[in-house]
Amino acid sequence: MAGQTYVVRTFGCQMNEHDSERIAGLLEADGLRPAADVDDADVVVLNTCCIRENADNKLYGHLGQLKALKQRRPDMQIVVGGCLAQKDRDLIVSKAPHVDVVFGTHNVHRAVELLGEQRVAGRSIVEILEETAADDHESFPSALPARREVPYAAWVTIQIGCDNSCAFCIVPAVRGREISRGFDDIVDEVRALAADGVTEVTLLGQNVNSYGRDLTLARRRAGESVRVRPLFADLLRAVGEVDGIRRVRYTSPHPKDLRPETIEAMATVPTVCEHLHLPLQAGSDRVLAAMHRGYTAERYLQRLAAARAAVPELAVTTDIIVGFPGETDEDFERTLEVAAEARYDSAYTFIYSPRPGTEAAERVDEFVPAEVSAERFERLRVVVERSALARHRARVGATEEVMVEGPSRKDPDVTTGRTRHNKLVHFRSPESLRPGSYAEVTVTAAAPHHLIGALARVTIPARHRTRIPVAAV
Ligand code: SAH
Ligand code: SF4
Ligand code: F3S
Repeated sequence: MAGQTYVVRTFGCQMNEHDSERIAGLLEADGLRPAADVDDADVVVLNTCCIRENADNKLYGHLGQLKALKQRRPDMQIVVGGCLAQKDRDLIVSKAPHVDVVFGTHNVHRAVELLGEQRVAGRSIVEILEETAADDHESFPSALPARREVPYAAWVTIQIGCDNSCAFCIVPAVRGREISRGFDDIVDEVRALAADGVTEVTLLGQNVNSYGRDLTLARRRAGESVRVRPLFADLLRAVGEVDGIRRVRYTSPHPKDLRPETIEAMATVPTVCEHLHLPLQAGSDRVLAAMHRGYTAERYLQRLAAARAAVPELAVTTDIIVGFPGETDEDFERTLEVAAEARYDSAYTFIYSPRPGTEAAERVDEFVPAEVSAERFERLRVVVERSALARHRARVGATEEVMVEGPSRKDPDVTTGRTRHNKLVHFRSPESLRPGSYAEVTVTAAAPHHLIGALARVTIPARHRTRIPVAAV
């Protein structure tokens, strides 16, 4: 509604963040403006995650805080969307009756209508769909307007949902089956983004390497003879060749589906960044099998070696879970060994968190005690930090292309940017560099989570106008 203000808070992964940009885009198309703070917002949207239990707790904590605000300003509308909304549905309103609208992952496009319906009805509205209605590949949800958080880099959805069944994971239950977005549609969006001043795109999907599988099936079902399906590698190539795009990133490839063609595209398309996020999850084959991951540690390491052989100086990051039900000390030792052998540049490490409805959550008798998991988590952290520091030290002396993100949060005199390896670099610059511009920075020192550098030269100033980021996201 014109004249009103909004805040969108994001709790989850990149896909969730990108959904938040779409929610913000829809609200702005309806005339709302970003609020400086939750305290002044007419509409507060909490875009939730439920990947681990603490994500659930975070939402209910936030809703508790919003209760007092809503008592003072009964006209404000509180909206809960995203994966936890998809999981908890009516439960959210029964736990927090001050919530006005609940919508799920398949009806983001309904955000504005639901707010209007709620105003008329004067009671809470819960609308959860079982699947994305617009799954005919033409009206893919990413057709919605997006208000990008930054003007120079953009997320691009290439696929929604997930057809895998990792025993620990709730994503398939809350994001639905895997649907690929049309090839030309994706390339067109990247062209439009490039025309708007974007130079870096990140292709998003839960399992990017199976991109296109369903498109081929759909065409075969329609009676067409389709022999070769578009591969993710073709998409990397097409997107990487769009004029104006300097960096292509993607997340996440599943190790079981990482094809040689993808590695080849990474090696041969200059814009595709030398960074591979390859989730390991566990190092023990017994645990990997129980997780239904579809690869062994040896296979994983072989694929990684092939990627490293093809892409010089490839940076490698990962996700690892400790304390999966039934994980023994020996299993965990394997995780440490494989992690050390993989020489990660960084890793997201998690303590297993049972998610209702997933297979592993049933294995209550085999749950690993919290203190054992905590100790394993700490030991893994040490191994990852060791390799990260070694990998970062190896960059000292190198001159890296850096995309400027802006002044450092801790020290406004220091500029922060990212290398093609996706490493954070802090450096000083005599003049203030615009976010989105490119510079060459010589690495002078290394820490486990960032690099320190010295500006060598500014290569490309940003083309776009600087926008104010979405408030409080
Ligand atoms: N599709 C992505 C993962 C999305 S979830 C992929 O397959 O790589 C992001 C990460 O959260 C996972 O890689 C996993 O390490 C972690 N994760 C998922 N479910 C979890 C759970 N129940 N407990 C702890 N960590 C979990
Ligand atoms: Fe979850 Fe596995 Fe799908 Fe990733 S691939 S979203 S971990 S089920
Ligand atoms: Fe992402 Fe969390 Fe949903 S990790 S897909 S927002 S459950």
